[in-house]
Amino acid sequence: MSFDRSIKIAPSILASDFANFGAECAAIEAQGADWVHVDVMDGHFVPAITFGPATCAAIRPHIKGVMDVHLMISPVDSYIDAFAAAGADFLTAHVEAGPHIHRTLQAIRATGCKAGVALNPGTPADAVAHLLDLTDLICVMTVNPGFGGQKFIDMSAKIKTLRAMIGDRPIHIEIDGGVDPLTAPLVAQAGADVLVAGSAVFKGGSVSNPAPYGENIRAIRAAAEGAYV
Ligand code: DX5
Ligand code: ZN
Repeated sequence: MSFDRSIKIAPSILASDFANFGAECAAIEAQGADWVHVDVMDGHFVPAITFGPATCAAIRPHIKGVMDVHLMISPVDSYIDAFAAAGADFLTAHVEAGPHIHRTLQAIRATGCKAGVALNPGTPADAVAHLLDLTDLICVMTVNPGFGGQKFIDMSAKIKTLRAMIGDRPIHIEIDGGVDPLTAPLVAQAGADVLVAGSAVFKGGSVSNPAPYGENIRAIRAAAEGAYV
């Protein structure tokens, strides 16, 4: 598949019904989601705990498209094979999660998954300067990771720096945290192509009333596309 830098909306199932992941994934895809974003939290790297590889494997058959797994865990290397076996397409690890992010990205690529690297708001763009050849996606956190529904932190300058650094390389810039129709134009204008959104996608809808998911996804997409360069 050729590299696609068009705007993609990746709803985070962190904001969905945890007792109904399969149906929630099917509903957001039917309502226009491009990717499904899966937030793994360990209660150590971040304060909250969500779920692990077994739940990812259970979710996988309910996703037709891309399963984008965001690992907010430390250590990470010892779990990479399990998350790859669970069927992830993208596995994203944090620069801040350990001393050897280069090795982590090599290990992710070795499983056949696409390798993502995430940057907390306090981490500079330079942290990935020597990782570009090992990276398929750079996730710019626009909240401090650990919870959904937090206020957006403007990282436009960092996104622009990364966009210039990437050049023509086939690397996605993903934004995670506080994305809604008001903040989406800022990140799209700066050069991001994958927009994760939890609360702003799932609000007002449910598996039995999924139409609001579609309205929310279309509103974020339209706002982003209007500003995308
Ligand atoms: C935060 C997670 C995000 C989160 C986004 O730690 O990585 O994916 O679910 O949620 P919203 O869109 O509600 O900020
Ligand atoms: Zn995430």
